[in-house]
Amino acid sequence: MSRLLLGQTLAFTADPFAGPPDDAVRHERHGGVLVDDGRIAAVGAADALRAAHPDANVTDYGEALILPGFVDAHAHYPQTAIIASWGKRLIDWLETYTFPEESRFHDAAYAAQMAETYLDLVTAHGTTTVCTFCTIHPESVTAIFAAAERRGMRLVAGKTAMDRNAPEFLRDTAQSAYDDSKALLQRWHGRGRLSYAVTPRFSPTSTPEQLAAMGALWAEHPGCPMQTHLSEQRDEVAWVADLFPQARDYLDTYEAAGLVGPGALFGHAIHLTPRETARIAETGGALVHCPTSNTFIGSGLFDTARRAAEGHRIGLATDTGGGSSFSMLRTMAAAYEIGQLTGTALHPAQLLWLATAGSARALRLDDRIGTLAPGMEADLCILDLASTPAIEQAAARADSVWEQVFPTIMMGDDRAVAATWIDGAPTAR
Ligand code: GUN
Ligand code: ZN
Repeated sequence: MSRLLLGQTLAFTADPFAGPPDDAVRHERHGGVLVDDGRIAAVGAADALRAAHPDANVTDYGEALILPGFVDAHAHYPQTAIIASWGKRLIDWLETYTFPEESRFHDAAYAAQMAETYLDLVTAHGTTTVCTFCTIHPESVTAIFAAAERRGMRLVAGKTAMDRNAPEFLRDTAQSAYDDSKALLQRWHGRGRLSYAVTPRFSPTSTPEQLAAMGALWAEHPGCPMQTHLSEQRDEVAWVADLFPQARDYLDTYEAAGLVGPGALFGHAIHLTPRETARIAETGGALVHCPTSNTFIGSGLFDTARRAAEGHRIGLATDTGGGSSFSMLRTMAAAYEIGQLTGTALHPAQLLWLATAGSARALRLDDRIGTLAPGMEADLCILDLASTPAIEQAAARADSVWEQVFPTIMMGDDRAVAATWIDGAPTAR
């Protein structure tokens, strides 16, 4: 049976970085989304949809805003429990907090428990797809894919490969990373709504041999995404230059291994040379902006407007637990604040697009998720635009949908998420 959701709707029809942001969106104050068999069947005016589908089961969200579910293009679900750990910068933070926690994921029961906790949290925050790193343990990959499959979630994940500069108990080898990743890829990639991402953590923790092994696996499965980190902190960039004296730059350590191309996802990508940005744009890779992480770990300022103008695919992400939030609302707020520091006030349409269609495009899933349009998968986030007294009194003065939604972008959290729909059905709360 069809289901009809009523509320305000915002449907992107174009990239709001490519022209006037207002022109890229269709807003219905009294709108509706018709859902049939896990897909969006129609989007339009509430009255017309009601009249055309009198038998549909109606859920009326009133003044709330119906959006595509948020898409988080870079996260580390195994870092759920160490989010908001105090006082360290990247390399120190990895050694002090991250590696000890990640070592626990050899235990399949612990991995399964954390996978459930993480997916509960992101769902409560309106996120319906994540692209996540796991740990070196195959158990960690099985745990998150199995949990996502049970929930019907579209999810991207991969086994993190590390064969140096990590504690012994968190190291694999070039060969075992290849073999384990391949077995996981064959088991999970393309099964239901799941995709496998080839996942070398970053150049400091992989030998050139391991990067090459990951490049070989990706070449055998070019339809898979490839996720890693790039130029997050200046100390890290200097370390990579020491470890790879023959490389032209940080990106070249990946390029030499066959890890640059369409489907590549470069987390952070802040401190880039002109050669690196040009190469990523021309090869069709994506930059993934992780703003709460960049301020929390003290990494630097990603210039979203400049990178968009250069023609880059850009995704938006929490980077949990380097990032300090599970919320894509909080993440949009941080992207706005960093935009102010780099000289551009990002428009609310641009922020919402990055958190939905932009991230979906970075993941090359934009033909399935990230937009309210017929044929797209029915993953939805319904936002209460007056979820706290502070937000309510600010939104009450609004003259446009942008003024109405911006206080929720800047101050909202999981209390603003009235409902999350996954695969055509509301999730239990
Ligand atoms: N670089 C390599 N690994 C990580 C990680 O787990 N988090 C962040 N923020 N950066 C990384
Ligand atoms: Zn990361």
